[in-house]
Amino acid sequence: MRVLGIETSCDETGVAIYDSAAGLLADTLYTQAIHADFGGVVPELASRDHVRKIIPLIQSTLIKSGLNPKEIQGVAYTKGPGLAGALLIGAMVGRTLGFAWGVPTVGVHHLEGHLLAPFLEPHPPVFPFLALLVSGGHTELIKVIRVGEYQVIGDTVDDAAGEAFDKTAKLLGMGYPGGAALAALAKRGVSGRFHFPRPMIDRPGLDFSFSGLKTAVSHTAAACALDEQTKADIACAFEEAVVDTLTIKCDRALSQTGFSRLVVAGGVGANSKLRETLTALCQKRGVDLFFPRLSFCTDNGAMIAYAGCQRLLMGEGEEGLDVEVMPRWPL
Ligand code: KG4
Ligand code: ZN
Repeated sequence: MRVLGIETSCDETGVAIYDSAAGLLADTLYTQAIHADFGGVVPELASRDHVRKIIPLIQSTLIKSGLNPKEIQGVAYTKGPGLAGALLIGAMVGRTLGFAWGVPTVGVHHLEGHLLAPFLEPHPPVFPFLALLVSGGHTELIKVIRVGEYQVIGDTVDDAAGEAFDKTAKLLGMGYPGGAALAALAKRGVSGRFHFPRPMIDRPGLDFSFSGLKTAVSHTAAACALDEQTKADIACAFEEAVVDTLTIKCDRALSQTGFSRLVVAGGVGANSKLRETLTALCQKRGVDLFFPRLSFCTDNGAMIAYAGCQRLLMGEGEEGLDVEVMPRWPL
């Protein structure tokens, strides 16, 4: 089955075509730059930019794939969670194409897209596995039993890991989203000059909390002269605290579930320090570790096309012609 996937949940317009027999046929992405000056995503601007970009992206994805629209057998779009206005653009276009082409459509859960992204790689995991989902809006440990069967066993009680990266980056004077820039700055930092708390590791359980860490960083930053080296040293200590916390909880969750496979997904999964540290943990434990490629850690259309294809193959699909989105939607 050949499925066109559309992602518009936040500030990335992603379009891709996935074929259940031949794999990923084409994948295009537009990352909105308009939010940088505002220090965060401005929902109205995000919606307008999706409107501008989505049709040209669908056209270029079809051209890249060499396919005729008649060869598309289903359309998947992100139904939620995300920004309501942004989701509506993808949903409206997805349902309209389904109607016009006479093919089924399916609304995909954005987090399911992230969780299944490693299946786009040459060596995908097999079910069941433990997933660490770390993005701008989510920090969760999830038991993934099969497509559609997910058990959240750990969650953040306040900020998400990516949100903590973004807020710390902002505090150190970087643009939005600052996660990747902060990680680059951390590489130039001296480890050990600062030390930040590893939140909630002394308590039993698998939940996370990152708002206290953010406060600790802001107190330290306020008490120092923020020259470039000091910023780098703070970034380094911050990254170590986040990575340590995530790693300790993964270790605990692997013990608790007895699973021998770990998948890391979501934008913070692109962090090289996290990748190194989790690789070492998994080697020590004899656990197989799976990451999507860097461009499939952050938001993209390919993961939605893949997840939508699985759902359509399971016989799911939408009836009627209503367009509905789920801005808040638990996994
Ligand atoms: O999955 P994603 O693209 O969007 C959401 O669904 O939220 O994740 C975006 C998040 C942002 O917070 C961004 O700063 C963070 O992932 N991020 C990183 C890195 N690259 C992106 N955080 C740390 N290190 C990175 N290399
Ligand atoms: Zn995402």
